[in-house]
Amino acid sequence: MFRIAHKEDLAKDITRITVEAPQVARKAQAGQFVIIIIDERGERIPLTLADWDKDKGTITLIFQKVGFTTKKLGTLNPGDYIEHVLGPLGHPTEIKKIGTVICIGGGVGIAEVYPVSRAFKEAGNRVLGIIGARSKELLILEDKLQEICDELFITTDDGSYSRKGFVTDALKELFDVVEKSTHTKYPDLIYCIGPVPMMKAVSELTRAYKVKTIVSLNPIMVDATGMCGSCRCTVGGKTVFGCVDGPDFDADQVDFDELGKRLKLFKNEEDKIKGL
Ligand SMILES: Cc1cc2nc3c(=O)[nH]c(=O)nc-3n(C[C@H](O)[C@H](O)[C@H](O)COP(=O)(O)OP(=O)(O)OC[C@H]3O[C@@H](n4cnc5c(N)ncnc54)[C@H](O)[C@@H]3O)c2cc1C
Ligand code: FES
Repeated sequence: MFRIAHKEDLAKDITRITVEAPQVARKAQAGQFVIIIIDERGERIPLTLADWDKDKGTITLIFQKVGFTTKKLGTLNPGDYIEHVLGPLGHPTEIKKIGTVICIGGGVGIAEVYPVSRAFKEAGNRVLGIIGARSKELLILEDKLQEICDELFITTDDGSYSRKGFVTDALKELFDVVEKSTHTKYPDLIYCIGPVPMMKAVSELTRAYKVKTIVSLNPIMVDATGMCGSCRCTVGGKTVFGCVDGPDFDADQVDFDELGKRLKLFKNEEDKIKGL
């Protein structure tokens, strides 16, 4: 049993909880995730390790209440318990000093890009952040990313805050600056987490500019041990399992259309229990 120590609403339908899970905290690395099961009747859902404190033995999870389990998780309060927290799972993001890294997060993906951005910064890179949300009220972690990024660019779809548009618009502007300049160069790496259409759009843009891009994929996961096959994706024409081979993959090789379709596989069943 894993006790919830803190809870805070960050934005409409986006909540941050800190959970006492010392063994997970001790081994956590940027890019990894946990599987949680709320109670003995609960399903397994994956959530990214948004932060951790090895000394206090806590991990931070940030989740968007989109369906049955995330809504139920949102009803728990400090002092309540989560039955199982399994992890850390997945390969950590490959962090090394390579020069300039642009970290892009969209929606709740901003929570997932934060520890990766921090790790790239700690490794000595110049880190530029681009974060996007549908509107100002859905934007999270601006202050935390400001602290670690050399420059932070913010977009909102509706223009209610900062630059109106998508993260790809801000990225294209950065590329345009490089194109017109004699003393700036293209980034050495782009790291991107967010909704599938966003990751696909970023990937199409960076392919055109030949900038290496890594995406963290979010397929439906059940066992997260590589046995059930529910998280299978096609990368470079081969079948891979997001849980044990990923979650990070070379964006240029990912079949995003297939991933988008597979994420809707259980939509009818999910919709049926949404009202429960
Ligand atoms: C590696 C990984 C890390 C993730 N990290 C986060 C995170 O930090 N914060 C966050 O808010 N969300 C994260 N997600 C997505 C999160 O797991 C889903 O939103 C959650 O499972 C939805 O469950 P539900 O019952 O609330 O909603 P449902 O109504 O059951 O599902 C809503 C949508 O979520 C997706 N989904 C459903 N079940 C799963 C599942 N078992 N695995 C993956 N996706 C599923 C489907 O696309 C579905 O249409 C992550 C997913 C993966 C694969
Ligand atoms: S979740 Fe079952 S194989 Fe990946």
